[in-house]
Amino acid sequence: MIKGTTKIIGIFGYPVEHTKSPAMHNAAFEHLGLDYCYVPFSVRPENLKSALDGIRALGIAGLNITVPHKEAVIPFLDEMSEEASFIGAVNTVKNENGILNGYNTDGIGFMRSLEEKGVQAKGKKVLILGAGGAARAVGYALCKEASECHIYNRTAEKGRALCGHLLKTGGNMRLSDNDLINDKGFLSGMDIIINTTSVGLSESDTPLLNASLLNTGQVVCDLVYKQTPLLKAAEKVGCVTMDGLGMLLWQGVAAFEIWTGTKAPVEVMRKSLGESC
Ligand code: ATR
Repeated sequence: MIKGTTKIIGIFGYPVEHTKSPAMHNAAFEHLGLDYCYVPFSVRPENLKSALDGIRALGIAGLNITVPHKEAVIPFLDEMSEEASFIGAVNTVKNENGILNGYNTDGIGFMRSLEEKGVQAKGKKVLILGAGGAARAVGYALCKEASECHIYNRTAEKGRALCGHLLKTGGNMRLSDNDLINDKGFLSGMDIIINTTSVGLSESDTPLLNASLLNTGQVVCDLVYKQTPLLKAAEKVGCVTMDGLGMLLWQGVAAFEIWTGTKAPVEVMRKSLGESC
């Protein structure tokens, strides 16, 4: 029920039609009887600045920020959390009396989804495929825990730059290459492998890794919200697999708690995302 007092939370994306976040957050607001409502906003890149001015003018309480705005939004915010500054991307904004504060809950979301699978990253050897925004968020959270954190990226320069950046956290960073990720000895030594690239979005994509080189018990994650060809192949050889739905849930839980200051109803939010989460 929308009332005169209802606070609005939005999501800015372009496109935004596919988003699962309104269902997840509105289910949580309703369950707790909180006077909030979550709505999608399709914001073209050229309108991002005026859309954020609108947030201040309309007193909208908070936002999620999704593709393609996570980096572009930064110059228009007033404050940034340490994490969001380091990662260089924002997925959550809180409006405090016209001051827009930026956060990044993707890294913590990934870590919590991993823990929920019973996987501890501490002391583990990790391979991250990709060096874009998602890799920066996951890498920031993981590299402080892992004993070794290897980065592979199609464009080696970007991979090297991410390694250099993550070194500043004190992580034990290594740059990987095409030969290494096709080497059974190297791959067998990795405890956790995470695909952060868009390879796998389409069923016809050939995975970046040859899953026949993997072993039973290795953990293979894909940030795409479904069973990708990589996850299917990894499951066949006995790996523990995880898609991106758990990360979507837990980044949402952290964002909800930032906006409302109230503990999120995780199971209600999980249910809104479907059984596979
Ligand atoms: P996101 O914010 O989701 O991480 P991004 O910043 O655009 O998106 O990054 C996309 C990542 O997927 C990059 O690491 C990209 O590799 P490049 O730096 O070489 O472009 C990777 N990627 C996308 N398509 C790919 C493909 N077909 N093969 C290998 N890597 C791919």
